[in-house]
Amino acid sequence: MEFTIQVAGQEHLKYAEAICQLIAESAKARGTGIAERKPEYVRTKIENGNAVIALQGEQLAGFCYIEVWSHEKYVANSGLIVAPEFRKHGLARAIKKRVFQLSQDKFPHARVFGITTSLAVMRINSDLGYKPVTFSELTQDDAFWAGCKSCPNYDILERNQRRMCLCTAMLAPSKEELMAVDLSHMIVKQ
Ligand SMILES: CC(C)(COP(=O)(O)OP(=O)(O)OC[C@H]1O[C@@H](n2cnc3c(N)ncnc32)[C@H](O)[C@@H]1OP(=O)(O)O)[C@@H](O)C(=O)NCCC(=O)NCCS
Repeated sequence: MEFTIQVAGQEHLKYAEAICQLIAESAKARGTGIAERKPEYVRTKIENGNAVIALQGEQLAGFCYIEVWSHEKYVANSGLIVAPEFRKHGLARAIKKRVFQLSQDKFPHARVFGITTSLAVMRINSDLGYKPVTFSELTQDDAFWAGCKSCPNYDILERNQRRMCLCTAMLAPSKEELMAVDLSHMIVKQ
């Protein structure tokens, strides 16, 4: 299958409702909660150049966007969705790769994190260099954790004072941290 995967622009604002519908339908089908996304929110992400869209021709195939937390100390690549008819063709992997690059380019100081119960997402994240961590390593912004309120497991998160829940937390170093590691290897080699 052939897809166009790109940073979303003005011409993609028309897909905002369809994106939110896909996210809501998938959450319902999986029986898991997911932070509810409103079309206005998705449109803002698109307008700010913080979203990646995948199309097959004119048809929406997938989407993901960047959220910025703790004054750019962290970013999350959130709202990953692939339309059911396009799943299992490596599209989520390609979208995540593009949104990860975009995050590194726009926010080179920021570590990239995600929380997920999805095996597919865990696999993709691991290949991108994320490592599993405890929730203590993530942003402590209340607004991020407020996104969990629509999850049926929110009581577990609250009961544990936000230290743990059913999602696995994963964290990737910032672009700057990665570059520092590369440099230190060069110094050792010389
Ligand atoms: C999760 C989702 C994004 C995967 O999209 P996809 O395009 O089918 O994924 P890919 O084809 O890129 O597969 C990526 C990897 O995950 C694996 N995978 C895909 N779907 C899987 C599933 N349901 N269970 C287990 N592994 C799965 C693939 O085998 C592949 O692994 P590999 O390359 O090591 O073999 C898609 O199923 C979806 O939109 N689900 C609903 C929304 C959702 O769960 N979003 C994530 C919220 S954190």
